[in-house]
Amino acid sequence: MDLKEFVTIVPDYPKEGISFKDISTIMDNGKAYKFATDEIVKFAKEVETDIIVGPEARGFIIGCPVAYALEAGFAPVRKPGKLPRETIEVEYDLEYGKDVLTIHKDAIKPGQRVLIVDDLLATGGTIGATIELVEKLGGIVAGCAFIIELSYLDGRNKLKGYDMRSLITY
Ligand code: PRP
Repeated sequence: MDLKEFVTIVPDYPKEGISFKDISTIMDNGKAYKFATDEIVKFAKEVETDIIVGPEARGFIIGCPVAYALEAGFAPVRKPGKLPRETIEVEYDLEYGKDVLTIHKDAIKPGQRVLIVDDLLATGGTIGATIELVEKLGGIVAGCAFIIELSYLDGRNKLKGYDMRSLITY
């Protein structure tokens, strides 16, 4: 299946000059959604995954079905104030300003092999912060998987030394 055919390009969203890659047209097609999930499940098995970690919100959309298929757990990475128990946090740079991501302190057990799953790799800020959270908790980043990679933004640079897989590249 050519998954790229199911991505909708939205010009000038969220602002002029940006060509937004909308994965909702993968998700609303049962076969395409299953195909994308199955491809990441294959990678998850290759890298011997114990648990999936996904950043909000679109990391949940693809990370959760992968976890279900593997019979593995899923640990959410969220913006501050969204997780109810004790968390750790990491600050990371945005194009303009900074943002913070958090994870429950007990979400990962030391030595667990973690696959981080997100819909899209752009600048790599989100994945870089998520890797830091996992490693702070003693997890081993077994790999990082994305539906889409925007190679012109060079997020891959932040993933040097990590196993990674993207299903579609622009
Ligand atoms: C998008 C996307 C990734 C991130 C990639 O999430 O889902 O998580 O940006 O960009 P980066 O590589 O430059 O960090 P967004 O922050 O828009 O949040 P959302 O999933 O909640 O919409």
